Amino acid sequence: MEDKLKLLADKQSEARLGGGEKRIESQHGKGKLTARERLHFLLDEGSFEEIGMLVTHRSKDFGMEKQIYLGDGVVTGYGTINGRLVYVFAQDFTVFGGSLSETHAEKICKLMDLAVQNGVPLIGLNDSGGARIQEGVKSLGGYADIFYRNVMASGVIPQISAIMGPCAGGAVYSPAMTDFTVMVENTSYMFVTGPNVVKTVTNEEVTAEELGGASTHASKSGVTHLTAANDIDCIEKVKRLLSYMPQNCEEQAPLLDFELGEELRESLRDIVPANPQQPYDMREVVAGIVDEDSFMEIHEQYAENIIVGFARIGGRSIGVVGNQPMSLAGVLDVDSSKKGARFVRFCDCFNIPLLVLVDVPGFLPGTDQEWNGIIVNGAKLLYAFSEATVPRVTLITRKAYGGAYDVMNSKHIGADFNYAWPTAEIAVMGAKGASEIIFRREIAEAEDPVAKLAEKEAEYKEKFAHPYRAASRGFIDEVIDPIHTRRKLIKAFTMLQNKVVKLPKKKHGNIPL
Ligand code: HXC
Repeated sequence: MEDKLKLLADKQSEARLGGGEKRIESQHGKGKLTARERLHFLLDEGSFEEIGMLVTHRSKDFGMEKQIYLGDGVVTGYGTINGRLVYVFAQDFTVFGGSLSETHAEKICKLMDLAVQNGVPLIGLNDSGGARIQEGVKSLGGYADIFYRNVMASGVIPQISAIMGPCAGGAVYSPAMTDFTVMVENTSYMFVTGPNVVKTVTNEEVTAEELGGASTHASKSGVTHLTAANDIDCIEKVKRLLSYMPQNCEEQAPLLDFELGEELRESLRDIVPANPQQPYDMREVVAGIVDEDSFMEIHEQYAENIIVGFARIGGRSIGVVGNQPMSLAGVLDVDSSKKGARFVRFCDCFNIPLLVLVDVPGFLPGTDQEWNGIIVNGAKLLYAFSEATVPRVTLITRKAYGGAYDVMNSKHIGADFNYAWPTAEIAVMGAKGASEIIFRREIAEAEDPVAKLAEKEAEYKEKFAHPYRAASRGFIDEVIDPIHTRRKLIKAFTMLQNKVVKLPKKKHGNIPL
């Protein structure tokens, strides 16, 4: 027995070394933690239970039979984060570049099956050169097995991907099908094919950082939702993200202790400028409404004309979607519609109520937008809000013009409560544009067209540049003094906590992708 225990101890310590000390040192030199160090920082102390530590690959080609590493380049298992169970895999770049063999894939698939069966989130710490080239179609099959499970798990359990090294091929497609991606700046990359292949095929010279670094994907492509300064920061962001989510689609997110106090917020009265053309930061409105320091912004640098993120109000997890007047006056365009729609659908999957803050002058006009499909992309946001069955509350702070009024969680598409501040303007368009169209002849024929336009503009403003017409029809439930906003919203979300909506029976809808 003692001999057998010694053999087991030797095997386990060999497995813990992964690709060997030298290779681990080279990764540390790049500022990266090892797979096991990452798990150590991610999980509650002593909570990790490893699965499949002694698994090895079965490949015999290209001399692979002589290169056997226990665990085969991925550490898999389960543990807790702040006492809540998670399943996690961490790829080990020191073993064949963290590449995915048939057995490496089997380990991840086993974990995914367990996560779905037990209704527990899955976290992937990705650091992989993609399909293991030496294994050919077996590794491609392995990826397809993972992709299939990503899709089956979608909407059942939260799936979060940390990108913690150079990831290529399947190692980026699987994260793309998970709910959130966090990339480490300067040490992680995501691309379908790396700079060398790009050079060969298109003759483009591009660095790995430009092609698929964290800042590229955070601002240009929107592929990553969050970026992190280093491995530890990345792990902290994954943990924080998870804190807003339930374990699975049947549960509610954790509710923090909270007692209703006075909850008045004077600062909210001074945010919207008197001049309707002047921008302001919608983040200030968010900060005045939600629990202190609870807002975690997602996709901060991508499509900045809309803000999305998680927050808490009265201890309850919510998703916030708001137009951002600071960027492009807060218009809806192709990218902001996609960004908003994806976030709304995540919240709806996982029973996270939605707070929608509206200051939107309409959709962005122009050939660029039309040719890039603003019709079908704007429709994504409209579709996502319309099908969402979670509690949905809207606050119009200023402009709610045209189709964008309908889209931004209006009463007509199923919102539960729609509030407006007295500064709200709910109309088909702004007063100047509207007057120029409907009074064109009158203005042209006037002795002083400029004065006539001003007169008509004033008339239009008087009629429409306020929330009271909408309120008289019941499209707005209440016009509120901004200082009462937080209190009203806490009460509204508490009142809506048991909301149940059954959609018409169907296989699934057909969102305009
Ligand atoms: C086997 C691999 C590997 C792979 C890297 N390695 N990728 N081994 N299969 N896919 C090995 C290298 O040979 C090297 O081994 C070690 O990992 C470290 O790699 P380096 O190239 O030295 O590291 P670095 O310079 O940091 O570059 C990392 C990289 C690059 C950008 C990931 O290695 C790379 O481009 N790899 C290939 C990417 C790729 O084309 N993968 C297949 C994708 S197809 P030694 O022994 O020298 O240390 C795919 C299909 C899925 O995934 C389907 C998608 C829909």
